[in-house]
Amino acid sequence: MVPITRHKELTKVSRAVKQAVGSYQRDQDMLIQILLDLQSMFGWLSEEVLTEVSEQLGVPVTRVYQIASYYKAFSLVPTGRHIVKVCLGTACQVRGAPQLLNVVSAILKMKPTETSADMRFTLETVNCLGCCAMGPVIAVDGIYHSKPSTSDLRTIFEVAK
Ligand code: FES
Repeated sequence: MVPITRHKELTKVSRAVKQAVGSYQRDQDMLIQILLDLQSMFGWLSEEVLTEVSEQLGVPVTRVYQIASYYKAFSLVPTGRHIVKVCLGTACQVRGAPQLLNVVSAILKMKPTETSADMRFTLETVNCLGCCAMGPVIAVDGIYHSKPSTSDLRTIFEVAK
């Protein structure tokens, strides 16, 4: 017997996938875009989402998993409401990125790849954010911050509810 809460969750997932797949006329070539839409909607791609996409789009589930696990844009685990990316690329490294990461980790009380228990933040490191001259750089929900001070960081994280 399936618990009621699970049944509701599956129904919600099924409807969301149906909408995403339908918005691309069930075009299998749009698999990545469909997954991007679902990632945006749920914040991550659960097993249920990937299975539904496979079934509704008619693409083998192994292919769906292959795509979802290959691209960094997708997460197969729940992520926080706010994604904090600290750049550890070479240009940022020489400008103090490791120290910046230490400060960010201390403020958020998290290590890279972790998500806070309240699902507020996920901390990630990246190899380049494409603005090397501004380093060290962090991005919070896609908004870049150049050479943030500890005070700046506290303000940035306080604003993110
Ligand atoms: S190395 Fe950090 S933005 Fe390029």
